[in-house]
Amino acid sequence: MARIETEVGKPQGGFMKWIDDRFPFTKTMEHHVTKYYAAKNFNWWYIFGVLAFVVLAIQLITGIFLTMNYKPSATEAFASVEYIMRDVEWGWLIRYMHSTGASFFFVVVYLHMFRAMLYGSYKKPRELIWIIGMLIFFVLMAEAFAGYLLPWGQMSYWGAQVIISLFGAIPVIGDGLVEYIKGDYAISDITLNRFFALHVIVLPLALIGLVFVHIVALHEVGSNNPDGIEIKDNKGPDGVPVDGIAFHPYHTSKDLVGIIVFLMIFSAVVFFAPEMGGFFLEHANFEKANVTATPEHIAPVWYFTPYYAILRAVPDKFWGFVLFAISVVLPLFLPWLDRSRVRSIRYRGWMYKTALTTFVITFLMLLWLGLQPAEGLYVLLARIFTVLYFAFFLLMPYYTAKDKTKPLPDRVVYHG
Ligand code: HEM
Repeated sequence: MARIETEVGKPQGGFMKWIDDRFPFTKTMEHHVTKYYAAKNFNWWYIFGVLAFVVLAIQLITGIFLTMNYKPSATEAFASVEYIMRDVEWGWLIRYMHSTGASFFFVVVYLHMFRAMLYGSYKKPRELIWIIGMLIFFVLMAEAFAGYLLPWGQMSYWGAQVIISLFGAIPVIGDGLVEYIKGDYAISDITLNRFFALHVIVLPLALIGLVFVHIVALHEVGSNNPDGIEIKDNKGPDGVPVDGIAFHPYHTSKDLVGIIVFLMIFSAVVFFAPEMGGFFLEHANFEKANVTATPEHIAPVWYFTPYYAILRAVPDKFWGFVLFAISVVLPLFLPWLDRSRVRSIRYRGWMYKTALTTFVITFLMLLWLGLQPAEGLYVLLARIFTVLYFAFFLLMPYYTAKDKTKPLPDRVVYHG
């Protein structure tokens, strides 16, 4: 077949032309990959979006294989997980990859979100990327929560019991809602079945759909960068931003290094510390769910504990639930709470730097406190850090507007 020249002068075979005449393959690849220009000064904070993709893929693939042997029934679920661990060939690896992947998903996503806070990536015109990201985060929380019930261990059962009963604090509809979520008067086989349906079909589909629109929104406005300046404002005669480099092959080759390092760390945990001392897989979950005996100490998995600590810091059940819900949703409003003229922390003043540092300490302290029993000094500390958590967001319009910022550079700062 005759070879033709494309606009960019690359010879294109007949087969590609046949495809392109029927489907915008080359156009899409160019728009999103080979001619998607992102700033050349990306640093390692920019690896976490790609890593979130990698973990999503790990979860989807291992999840499919787990489903082949898992039994979503209250009488068989626990035994089927034991069967996967002991008898299914490589079952232990698949299961540990999936359980470790859940925790790594949150590590990666929290760092990805923190990057956005460092460089003001949620600010105009990227508000929608952030909002879609927050929706991904909510779905991810629901996905992890539903998944945790499936092994039908003691913590699966009692953790779900505690969290679902929270909805009972809502006036009027609370009790009905709890029953509706459980599908029964208690957590039962029926609850397990619906959580299974949510975990393997509804929520993964929602995640994939949201990640797709996340990237579409990102590629519409273009990526931010560690200097928080718009590279599209400074284009060369060829129409390409002078500080931009093509996503492929330049960013992809760097990302590959990050992915390999990530997989090494991931493998180390999967092979040597899959329970992570009870952080990733709680000890009580190695016992089958027992409706008549609560575990000694009920705490959700670490990625939920910052919000759980806020819930327990409030003495009143209803207000505890309200503050808990607000603490999860509040970051959604960051694009409008942040009044700074600059995006990146590099050009912000001491106020934002202090606030963000305090926020990181607050978040980690709440995470730790949520794992401790709700008594004595722990409760007092949880109250102090709850106040600091809300102060970070609610005072933000004030301190970001007041903060003295530094002048922005014309070009990105690149330490090659
Ligand atoms: C499955 C989960 C997610 C995946 C696969 C994902 C993927 C990505 C990718 C590949 C990028 C571009 C590379 C990068 O900038 O790191 C990106 C950018 C971004 N993501 Fe996510 N993301 C996820 C979750 C989230 C969440 C939970 C948020 C925030 C709540 C978020 C907010 C953002 C923002 C603001 C950007 C633009 C960053 C910039 O240009 O500086 N993402 N995401």
